[in-house]
Amino acid sequence: MVRPATERNGITRRTYLKGTGGALGLAALTGSGVRAQQGGGSNTLEIVHWWTAGGEKQAIQALLDGYKRKYPDVQVQNNPAPGGAGSALDTVIQNRVLNQNPPSTFQIWPGQSLAPYVQGNVLNDIGDSVWTQQVESAYLESVRNAAKPAGNYVAVPLNIHRLNNLFYNADIVERAGVDPGSINDPAALSNALDTVSSQTNATPLAHSTQEAWTTLQLWETVFIGQHGSEAFLDLVGGNAGQHQGQIRQSLQQVKQYRRHFNRDAGSISWDQANSKVINGEAAFVQQGDWAAGQYEAAQNFGYQQQWDYVPFPGTNGVYSMVMDSFVYPKNNPSPDATEKFLDYCSTVDAQRRFNPVKGSIPPRTDVPTAPFGPFLRSQIQDFKNSQSQPTTIAHGSAVVPEVKSNMEEAFAGFTESWNVDSTATRIRDAFQA
Ligand code: GAL
Repeated sequence: MVRPATERNGITRRTYLKGTGGALGLAALTGSGVRAQQGGGSNTLEIVHWWTAGGEKQAIQALLDGYKRKYPDVQVQNNPAPGGAGSALDTVIQNRVLNQNPPSTFQIWPGQSLAPYVQGNVLNDIGDSVWTQQVESAYLESVRNAAKPAGNYVAVPLNIHRLNNLFYNADIVERAGVDPGSINDPAALSNALDTVSSQTNATPLAHSTQEAWTTLQLWETVFIGQHGSEAFLDLVGGNAGQHQGQIRQSLQQVKQYRRHFNRDAGSISWDQANSKVINGEAAFVQQGDWAAGQYEAAQNFGYQQQWDYVPFPGTNGVYSMVMDSFVYPKNNPSPDATEKFLDYCSTVDAQRRFNPVKGSIPPRTDVPTAPFGPFLRSQIQDFKNSQSQPTTIAHGSAVVPEVKSNMEEAFAGFTESWNVDSTATRIRDAFQA
């Protein structure tokens, strides 16, 4: 049943997902679509995404430019829902899909995030239209699988980000006498932050706690650094109760880093925190490599000159994957333009234009590496050599949205109370959704 908009507005996202059985309550809607289903429709592609930060904005523009170049007859309505890691997009899309007024396409993480949309049967199968044999054979198998959570293709992955990076301002760490390459584990990072604090005026670790996902991703990265990918995958697989000691240890470590965060962490966004590394206010930042897209977009901030990176301490050989994809909602306002766009996302041309600017690597294996620059070329190499490619909670690929939302609530609480024990309990309970 579709509840009236007024009723939906008054409830939290968590209650909303719970109340709809985690499947968006959308099953009842399919088949009742009043808008064009096949062919024709509007010639304007309305695209909803959250890429408005430095580097990300340029990347989506590069993609849309390539699309318009290939299909000069289509119009594009670029309609972002700003907010890192989709913090605002989710609600916008759920409401629009429920109201049978979806955009032509929207950004979503492949993998578990797709589950409620697939269960709700609100996405078109794009197996025949986009995933030709030629496209299938160009994609990595793990990426292909994430695009078809129920066995049939519903998404087109565009990029692969790495989450477990530690970026730094080269000048500050040099002044502090810290060698990032020698920081072997999360505890040693704590010592390095102490050194930066005593030797320079810089903030040792730039961070944003304005939204919960940044601290959640820091914790999951520390967890892998301390306990390894296998323990992490076991945890997200539903065994959080068996990892309570490890969960507490990683929370404790994050709490220790907290002494070295910038004072305004609670009121700034991830990209504002990252800017502190660019403008020389902060030494380190833990972020996905979308942060590198922001460095590339900055003036006079060169790789291995002004900035550099190491895999997060303790995670050598790990490539924590964050992917983005686009989908084809049913009741689509512009079927032809949408199909053309999704098809375009699967091409070498699209992935060559988008990824070098975005700070990500392509999921197709046949994209030329020349346009990628030395940082991303080394990420491509690290990806090829990686021993594990774990999924992530903060970026939705490891758990269904309801569990992710519970985890965000746990971390929103953590960044207020910094209470390790109560947060560990909430993490355990988050998986009992
Ligand atoms: C991730 C997304 C990235 C980047 C990042 C920061 O979830 O996959 O492409 O946008 O959030 O917002």
